[in-house]
Order: sequence, then structure tokens, then C-alpha cells
Amino acid sequence: MLKAFGRGGFALKNFSQQAEDLRGTEIEKARAIAGIWLWLLMVPDVAFALCLVAGVWLAAQGELSVGGLVAFFATATVLRWPVESIGFLLSMTFDARTATDRYFDVLDAPNSITDPDRPVTLAAPPGRLAFEDVHFRYPDSPARFPDLLDGVNLVLQPGETMALVGLTGSGKSTLTALTTRLYDVTQGKVTLDGVDVRAFGREDLRGHLAMAFEDATLFSASVRDNVLLGRPEFAERSAAADAALEEALQVAQAGFVRDLPDGVDTLVGEEGMSLSGGQRQRIALARAVAAKPAVLVLDDPLSALDVDTESLVEAALREVLASTTALIVAHRPSTVTLADRVALLEDGRITAVGRHSELLRTNEHYRFVISSLEDEERRDATRQNAREEAAR
Ligand SMILES: Nc1ncnc2c1ncn2[C@@H]1O[C@H](COP(=O)(O)OP(=O)(O)OP(=O)(O)O)[C@@H](O)[C@H]1O
Ligand SMILES: [Mg+2]
Repeated sequence: MLKAFGRGGFALKNFSQQAEDLRGTEIEKARAIAGIWLWLLMVPDVAFALCLVAGVWLAAQGELSVGGLVAFFATATVLRWPVESIGFLLSMTFDARTATDRYFDVLDAPNSITDPDRPVTLAAPPGRLAFEDVHFRYPDSPARFPDLLDGVNLVLQPGETMALVGLTGSGKSTLTALTTRLYDVTQGKVTLDGVDVRAFGREDLRGHLAMAFEDATLFSASVRDNVLLGRPEFAERSAAADAALEEALQVAQAGFVRDLPDGVDTLVGEEGMSLSGGQRQRIALARAVAAKPAVLVLDDPLSALDVDTESLVEAALREVLASTTALIVAHRPSTVTLADRVALLEDGRITAVGRHSELLRTNEHYRFVISSLEDEERRDATRQNAREEAAR
């Protein structure tokens, strides 16, 4: 990044300055420690030397027996270490206290997203996802701002695929995060088959509903473990697990994993192999698909894919989506065409719901949003062509 912007020199200067400051502080610290150690070690030794001189003198005068002198030094030597170690222990207590304070800062942070006392369970997997007068604001947003979501009403019928479209920053990602209780609504409710999501146990809820995010996070684990994360029953290798893995990778067009050094057992994520944004997105998408949820929520899961791969993923997704209720945030007109209906998020509300062609005809704001998405897509395509040119 810095290289790309030609700011390497500036960053280096900044870094050198900070390194210089750190070096100064470290030297100062070493000086202080050396000073303390000097006194800590010198004072007892000097005292010992003075006692020895005084003792020898007293013994020579006959006021102290040689045995008494030896006994004194024997006792003093035994006691010296315990007394010194009290000093160490005291200084360690201060370190430990600071560390414990920070530890409890984290642990004591209240978690407002908790399981209800009597969680509801459903007999059959849910199909209908509804937002009923949903209001939401982030706790740290200034009071003068209106609610980010200001009365969202939207119903997804069982098996329906709904695309969510809106300008950037309109709150699409936030709305999807509410479904799986990454945040709780501040007013109104989100329901699955008419049951408030807050009435389910969290694990139960997240078993019904799987999500894939735009900025795909992979764990430091094999591709297999990353994809089958939502299927605890497949933690052991089995033919069924392999089949589920294959199917999910197929839907997400993640065949590239077979070319990795160890195939699906290649370690990816922070400590493993680095993958490109589009590759990570495809694995995250495979993870959501592999979970076989009743409701699938995808926050713009295809944004980093090139147009050709995207259409392949879409074709495969179409089959999965036929039987799944899905809410898909779309940043591309082509993703919108996957959906049965499209919902338009504007000023914190759903202002229009309908078929893509119908909304294009009747809704001014929808036309505006779609044309801005098309502009973006055109820019992406130009960039991609340039990359291909450069590769040739
Ligand atoms: N964790 C957070 N804390 C506080 N504010 C946030 C947080 N996440 C998002 N916001 C704010 O909420 C608003 C909506 O963000 P959100 O990510 O939902 O938009 P979006 O519609 O998904 O945008 P995009 O199309 O760019 O993905 C933004 O103004 C953002 O600054
Ligand atoms: Mg978003």
C-alpha cells in the first residue's frame, strides 16, 4: 500500500522517529533499573563488610567470641535472600495488578446478547423471515443522528430469495447482522416463523440461519475445517463429510482449493497460506452453504469475484436457493437478478419491494442506485481488463 502510494520514505521517517523514541525510553529504563540494582545489592554487601570489620575488632578485644561472630554471619546469610525476594515480590505484585485489571476490563464487559430463560424451539426448520418495525442505532452514534434503521418492515416468504439494495452506508450490513443477533434491535423485532429471534437459544438460532460476510474471515485451520465449521457432526472424517464439503465447494466455485499444496487439508487463515480476497470469499460462501441452513443471509458475498466466476457461482447458488429462504445484499445488478424480489433500503426504511424490472420502471431512487452499481461494475471490469492486459 505504502509502496503503491509512493509514501515509503515518509513512513520510514515516521518509523525511525518512533524507533528512536523507543530506544531512548529503553535506555532510560535500563539506567533506572541499574540504579535500583546498585543500591539493592550494594547496601547489604557494604553492611556485611562493616559488620565483618566491627566483628573482627570486637573479637580481637575479646568482647565477642569467634563462635558468636560465625553464628551471626551464618544467620545473616540465610536471611538475606528471603528479605531481598520480598522486594521482588512487591514489584511483581504491581505488574500482576495492572494485568489483572486489564483482564477484568474485558471479562466484565456486559454482554447484552444473552439466551432467554426459556428458549423456544421449533418443530420444523423455519422458513419465513420477517422484520417488524425494526429500529436500530449503534450505541456510540451521536444522539443528534436519527436511527440508522428507522422502522424497517420486510417479509421473506419461505423459499424466497430477496435481494437487498441501497446506497453505500444505508445500513444493509447492519440489517443483516440483526438477523443472527450480532446486534440486537433497539425497537421492533426480527422473527423466524413468527418467533422473535431473541426467544431462541443463540446456538439454536445460528443453526437455523447461516451468514456470509463481505470481508470473509478464515480461521487458522484447514480448508476442510473452515468450510465445515457449521457442521459439528462432520468434525470426524467420513464419506458424508467429504460429500458435503465437495458440494459446498462446488456451489461456491472454490475448485481452486484442490490446487493448493495439500488440497482441502491446506492450512489457510492467519497462520496458513494467504489467499486472495475472492478466494477467501468463496471459502466463506462455501461455509455458509455447507451449514445447510433454513435461512441464508449473504452480505454481498460475491463482491470480490470477477464477473465470469460470479455468474458460475450464481448458477450454482440458484439451485441451493430454490429451497432456502435467502436475504442477499447485492452490489451488482447481476446479483439482483438472482432474487425473486428486491427490497430497496432508503433512509433507514424499506421504501419499495418488487421485481427488478418493475422497480426499474417505477422507482426513481431504485434506478439511481442501480445505475451507481452499474458504474461501479464498469469500473471493476475496466480494472480487471487492465490486470489481464498486464498479465499478458
Ligand atoms: N460497528 C459499528 N459501530 C458504529 N457505527 C457503525 C458500525 N458499523 C457500521 N456503522 C455505521 O453504520 C452505517 C451503515 O453501515 P453499514 O455497514 O450497515 O452500511 P452498508 O449499507 O452495508 O454499506 P456498504 O454498501 O458500504 O456495505 C455507516 O454510517 C457506518 O459508519
Ligand atoms: Mg455492507
